[in-house]
Amino acid sequence: MASSSGSAALIVGASRGLGLGLAEAYLQRGWRVVGTVRGAAPTKLHDLAASSGGRLAIETVEINEPAEVAALKQRLSGRSFDVLFVNAGVTNRRDETVGEVSTDEFNRVMVTNALSPMRVIETLEDTVAPGGVIGAMSSGLGSVADNESGGMEVYRASKAALNTLMRSYAARAGGKRAVALISPGWVRTDMGGDAAPLSVAESASGIVDVLAGCAGKPGAVFIDYKGDTVRW
Ligand SMILES: NC(=O)c1ccc[n+]([C@@H]2O[C@H](COP(=O)([O-])OP(=O)(O)OC[C@H]3O[C@@H](n4cnc5c(N)ncnc54)[C@H](OP(=O)(O)O)[C@@H]3O)[C@@H](O)[C@H]2O)c1
Repeated sequence: MASSSGSAALIVGASRGLGLGLAEAYLQRGWRVVGTVRGAAPTKLHDLAASSGGRLAIETVEINEPAEVAALKQRLSGRSFDVLFVNAGVTNRRDETVGEVSTDEFNRVMVTNALSPMRVIETLEDTVAPGGVIGAMSSGLGSVADNESGGMEVYRASKAALNTLMRSYAARAGGKRAVALISPGWVRTDMGGDAAPLSVAESASGIVDVLAGCAGKPGAVFIDYKGDTVRW
């Protein structure tokens, strides 16, 4: 994608991993970026901001705290973004079945991966420019149609829930919003682990290109970092 010096992205959950990689990929393309972290501790995003020439600003939000999301909206009042992307997500133990998981753990994964991203989007949607893109980080594991192997049951369900909520959001918007659910591939991060085949930079660069391709195209898509459609 060509450099877009007038463009701006808001990335929610950018302290490390794919969110940090997305911030870096947008900066490399000349965008301005607002990235969010939780709490006051310095993160790798702070290191990136220090070398960004003032194009990366850091905000703070814990997405599971509605008051913090509302406060972020106040602080961003008057701002306009070409991309709002909710990257933040968590998983439970990979081999933990739905029969084993505690209610608290189920709630933690479901709320963080499905309810809270939607709250962020519902709260911040007015910061997205007309023709802009609202995206959220899904997963190939969120595909109901492709779930032949099972595994990671609770995480899968949380991303499938996110996909369904985003489709409902797009439908409610009456075809006026470009809404993108992204499958980043299996990526070497704290969540993805060392055995994953993809680097953060490879996946993030692809995601930035894919989101650019969604601009001005209303409706919901489920698409991977290479631009291939994923079955719902
Ligand atoms: N890695 C993969 O292979 C893979 C594959 C498919 C989908 N994904 C999805 O991609 C996204 C990023 O994954 P990752 O691999 O980069 O994971 P990661 O390295 O574990 O990073 C997770 C990010 O989400 C933030 N976060 C988590 N809970 C949050 C909350 N309640 N409020 C605000 N921020 C929160 C974390 O912030 P802190 O630093 O404060 O914890 C961190 O920035 C997730 O949605 C994940 O499900 C990853």
